[in-house]
Amino acid sequence: MLDKTEAFVRTELSGETSGHDWWHIHRVVQMTRRLAAAEQADLFVCTMAALLHDIPDEKLNVSKEAGMERLNYWLDEQPLEQQDREHILEIIGNMSYNGGNNPPMRTIEGQVVQDADRLDAIGAIAIARCFVYAGHVGDLMYDPEVPVRENMTAEEYRNGQSTAINHFHEKLLKLKDRINTPAAREIAEERHQYMQDYVDRFYREWNGI
Ligand code: ADP
Ligand code: NI
Repeated sequence: MLDKTEAFVRTELSGETSGHDWWHIHRVVQMTRRLAAAEQADLFVCTMAALLHDIPDEKLNVSKEAGMERLNYWLDEQPLEQQDREHILEIIGNMSYNGGNNPPMRTIEGQVVQDADRLDAIGAIAIARCFVYAGHVGDLMYDPEVPVRENMTAEEYRNGQSTAINHFHEKLLKLKDRINTPAAREIAEERHQYMQDYVDRFYREWNGI
């Protein structure tokens, strides 16, 4: 089932150019398995949820409902235990950052997959993803006249309209303090520092220093 699901997701997301392509999924699955081992979480549920987590993403579908339909279409075909299916759906439904407005993950499996996804938004690859995403939606790299919005509502967060550099302050630099598991926190600390140094340097160069 894992192999088949991988092939499905690979086909669905291979041409995606906003930073949620197959290789993002691949990295999240790899990190999920590492964290699941450290936290003794259920590997099967974690891997299925990691593989499928971006399939219903609102940004990659015409609507939230269309996204869920795409996910259910796949899950309906699988000989899954009812309990596992519900668990996988629960995890995927609560994954998103949503401006920090989603409730905390209930299970260790959910915490692990969410951490793995968040770790891909912190560090060297995260810097690249942020600029790729901004280019994809037509945002500027930086504009000192566009203010950073603190504590956005879910609505404001969804509506976007920012710059790539502002996104570091609006989300990416906040993720470190929203990591669930000790194994992921250690990785997040180091990646966060790297990203913070990058942003500091960006401003120094911007100011001609
Ligand atoms: P989630 O679904 O967990 O909220 P997203 O899919 O919104 O995560 O974001 C995934 C990655 O896409 C982010 O970590 C970031 O790198 C990039 N991204 C999302 N929104 C923006 C934005 N407004 N500006 C720049 N990058 C963004
Ligand atoms: Ni993701």
